Amino acid sequence: MQHHDARQVVIKPKYYSVANRVQRYDAQQIIKELLSVLQWRLDEKDSLIDLGTGSGDVLMDFIYPLLPKNFTKLVGTDISSEMVEHCKRNYSQSENVKFKVLDIGTEILPKELIGEFDHVTSFYSIHWVQNQRLAVDNIYRLLKSGGDCFLVFLSTHSINETYDIVSLNPKWAPYMKNIKNYYSPLFRSKDPRSEFSEILKDAGFVDVKVAELSNYSNELLHYVISSFFVYCTDTYRAVNPFIHRVPVEMHEEILDEIIHTAIELGNESNNGNPGCIATYKLIVAYARKL
Ligand SMILES: C[S@@+](CC[C@H](N)C(=O)[O-])C[C@H]1O[C@@H](n2cnc3c(N)ncnc32)[C@H](O)[C@@H]1O
Repeated sequence: MQHHDARQVVIKPKYYSVANRVQRYDAQQIIKELLSVLQWRLDEKDSLIDLGTGSGDVLMDFIYPLLPKNFTKLVGTDISSEMVEHCKRNYSQSENVKFKVLDIGTEILPKELIGEFDHVTSFYSIHWVQNQRLAVDNIYRLLKSGGDCFLVFLSTHSINETYDIVSLNPKWAPYMKNIKNYYSPLFRSKDPRSEFSEILKDAGFVDVKVAELSNYSNELLHYVISSFFVYCTDTYRAVNPFIHRVPVEMHEEILDEIIHTAIELGNESNNGNPGCIATYKLIVAYARKL
């Protein structure tokens, strides 16, 4: 049986892979930039490691096709062995494509990965790591000299306000203890863009470029989901830090409360305009190791 750290998010591949339309859309838009931003090797023998690969479809559908045809190594990693097994089952492993369990926030990086990669990518995952400095130090250590990273993760998400409200209900409070431990430290930052730039520079990175894009000012998809009720239920079932603590027979009830609370909050922050009930901002960061 897999052991879960108190702060480790538990995301089930069977739910995530059918409920990640927003993440796929954002990644697809942003990855268009990747080709021109990453410093590809002249000999095309690039190696790339992806962190928090999840169900693997973003990596394999969007990044894999961009790799030079002589690439030497593509490694998809995730803290969840269930996700890694899902990737292994769904995407063939070969000499140069592998999937491995790896915690981005680990204190002890496996020796065989250190200094092995020309590129590090990560989509929608780094916000789960409480110690972002450690995560960035690890990214630095994974890279070869001259290597670079492209990181995309949430700086804010309205679901946290929703969880704050739902956790006040005495019925759900016991299952949502320490819920704030799951919120990224950047969620509390006044200036996540500058704060993350500093973290990258302090780790030794150069050419640091960090943008913060929001999904409600046309910088990202303003996701108007025709069947958003079903879609959001699927999403918050799939990506939910505490649902594994709630008895299965109560899952539909708590998801219903989460969705209704999210709709109320969304309507308030959206001037009564339904259609977008999740507002969020993404950090998109590029940096290079000298
Ligand atoms: C929302 S999914 C993103 C998956 C994929 N990158 C995508 O864009 O669709 C977040 C993933 O991060 C993983 N994750 C959470 N904390 C992690 C950590 N400390 N190290 C590595 N992966 C982590 C989760 O298991 C999950 O698979």
